[in-house]
Amino acid sequence: MSGLIQIINGPNLNLLGRRQPEIYGYETLDDVEADCAALAADLDLECAFYQSNYEGALIDCIHQAREKADGIIINPAAYTHTSVAILDALNAFEGPVIEVHISNVHKRESFRHHSYVSLRADGVIAGCGTEGYQYALRRMATLIKA
Ligand code: DQA
Repeated sequence: MSGLIQIINGPNLNLLGRRQPEIYGYETLDDVEADCAALAADLDLECAFYQSNYEGALIDCIHQAREKADGIIINPAAYTHTSVAILDALNAFEGPVIEVHISNVHKRESFRHHSYVSLRADGVIAGCGTEGYQYALRRMATLIKA
C-alpha cells in the first residue's frame, strides 16, 4: 500500500506553538509536519504539507490535490465555520477527507460549533491537540486500504 496524503492547514496555524498556547499547545506546525512525516513512513504513506492564510489559496491546493493526492487531511481553522467555497472544493475531490481541529470546538464559542467542512468529511477529530493529525493519518491509512 502507498498513497499521497495532502495535509492542509488554514489561517493562523502558521503561528501554532506561539498563538494561544493554552488552547492550541506548544507544538509548532513544523513539529506537527515532522511527526506526520515520520508516522506516514511507518504507514507506507507519503505526506504533502500546505498552509495558507488565504481562502483562495486553500481552494487552489484542494484543486491540485484532485490530480495527485489519494486523501486530504484538513484543518480549515476559522474558515471551517464560514466557507461554503472550501466545502465546494472538497466536494470536487474524490478521495477520503478527514477534518481536524486541535481544540474541542464544541466546548468553545457557539459560532465554532457549526462546520461547513463536516458536511463533506468522512471523519472529524477535535479536541485531541496536535495528536489529532496523527489519528487522522492512521484513519486515512485504513480508508485508503479499504
Ligand atoms: C481550530 C478551531 C477553529 O475554530 C479556529 O478558528 C482555529 C483552529 C482548531 O484547530 O482547533 O483557528 O480549527
